[in-house]
Amino acid sequence: MENLAQVNTMEKILVLDFGGQYNQLIARRVREQSVYAEIKPYNKITVEEIKKIGYKGIIFTGGPNSVYDESSPHYDPQILNAGIPILGICYGAQLMAYMAGGEICSAMDSSEYGKTAFRIVESPLFKDIPEESICWMSHTDFIKKPPIGFDVIAQTDKCPCAAMSNNEKKLYAVQFHPEVTHTEYGKQILSNFLFNVCGCIGDWKMESFVENTIEKYKRELKGKKVLLALSGGVDSSVAAVLLHKAIGTNLTCVFVDHGLLRKDEGDFVEKTFRGQFGMNLIRVNAEERFLGKLKGVTEPEKKRKIIGEEFIRVFEDEAKKLGKINVLVQGTIYPDVIESGKGDSAVIKSHHNVGGLPSVISFDEIVEPLRDLFKDEVRAAGTQLGIPYELVWRQPFPGPGLAVRVIGEITKEKLEILRDADAIFREEIASAKLEGETNQYFAVLTDLRSVGVKGDARTYGYTVALRAVTTDDFMTAEWTRLPYEVLEKASSRITNEVHCITRVVYDITSKPPATVEWE
Ligand code: XMP
Repeated sequence: MENLAQVNTMEKILVLDFGGQYNQLIARRVREQSVYAEIKPYNKITVEEIKKIGYKGIIFTGGPNSVYDESSPHYDPQILNAGIPILGICYGAQLMAYMAGGEICSAMDSSEYGKTAFRIVESPLFKDIPEESICWMSHTDFIKKPPIGFDVIAQTDKCPCAAMSNNEKKLYAVQFHPEVTHTEYGKQILSNFLFNVCGCIGDWKMESFVENTIEKYKRELKGKKVLLALSGGVDSSVAAVLLHKAIGTNLTCVFVDHGLLRKDEGDFVEKTFRGQFGMNLIRVNAEERFLGKLKGVTEPEKKRKIIGEEFIRVFEDEAKKLGKINVLVQGTIYPDVIESGKGDSAVIKSHHNVGGLPSVISFDEIVEPLRDLFKDEVRAAGTQLGIPYELVWRQPFPGPGLAVRVIGEITKEKLEILRDADAIFREEIASAKLEGETNQYFAVLTDLRSVGVKGDARTYGYTVALRAVTTDDFMTAEWTRLPYEVLEKASSRITNEVHCITRVVYDITSKPPATVEWE
């Protein structure tokens, strides 16, 4: 019971979302300081609900609008009298000023973008911050006149009110973005708000999350039969180990090996989960089945569709053998929940692994043990649970696997060639200690053949393309400037060690216009 009480009394910060681009980042920055933060769209929660939940503080996020636009997001001004500390950021700052009766102005010659020097006066928000430092600005509108009861606590050359406060009501507003790393003392400012203003103690710790979650599922899933589709990716792996610690062999993990994994990957997943963790794991070797369905198919979207559907069929066949399932586990994580825009309502992730499953397998309940965690927190939980480093820090791998990296028709032979080339490329990146310098790197087997010469003989073999990208979110990506020596070594080893490859090229296209994967 102690653990349950701990979950319910855990302090929370509300990030009230007005549509800005850094909203997830704000919540992550708060959580990095061991305080739990959750994001709610401004139109999905009322002042009464906020009071009832008992948040220790609120952060109004930025937003793309101007407070005087008719369509801009507004909020009930009673929030300012709720007795809860608030920090307004950018649009959130202007909104606070507007709601309290201040004056906002829009002037192109007052707009600021990028690193900007700002000066402060003493304030609980600015504890341990020098009088002058650098902040990150991105605005045209600004607070011309703070509301009655508010003091200006920071200025820049162009902005007469870069921050304001009403200490008595614990209301603070900053025009700049403390959540981005370009704001020199941004972390300290957020920390001051959380600990100095809101009085948080910092009780969001991964150890307690892991412990509490295991305890919770021990109680809630007692005696139930639980099924999980394990892909070997970070999310499903962490969900599997968490649940396994809670309910042991009542959890069955089904790992569908579609024969489109990287070199030795299937064996590694099996060894880790069955060997190291002693899990009840069913590995379905379905290579023949998938390759049969993919025979003669060259069109990328068709490949994806076939793999997605076949995955469900294989999973369904296995689930049927297990009889009645009570609970299905999904690896939904917090960004999926936020992006669905549905707040707390149940979301079923339309991942290729599980999309469509609810209609074909009968079960009573879906459990999503990671739905409150950001990706970096999922990794921290995985580390806490003793999951091997290679798995916790695994680079993203597309659901359809190597099928989208063999251009044109997929054959067993081509998959073998690609696996060997890809493994060499990854080995060379690892031995040059460049894993941290690039976010995703892999080989692609093109369907282009070209002439080469090995020894005295002419050859006619495949062209392999190497791809490495640097990115924050995979929505846009830069090709990674890998050192020539690393590319040279990879190229030389691939052409020497992998038969049928005569040529290696490096992909120097960014996204956009290209995508990360070739298909
Ligand atoms: P693209 O190629 O769209 O890829 O630039 C962006 C990121 O998404 C991964 N990716 C996928 N992941 N199922 C997945 O789970 C898929 O069908 C899929 N397609 C692409 C890709 O590897 C990259 O990290």
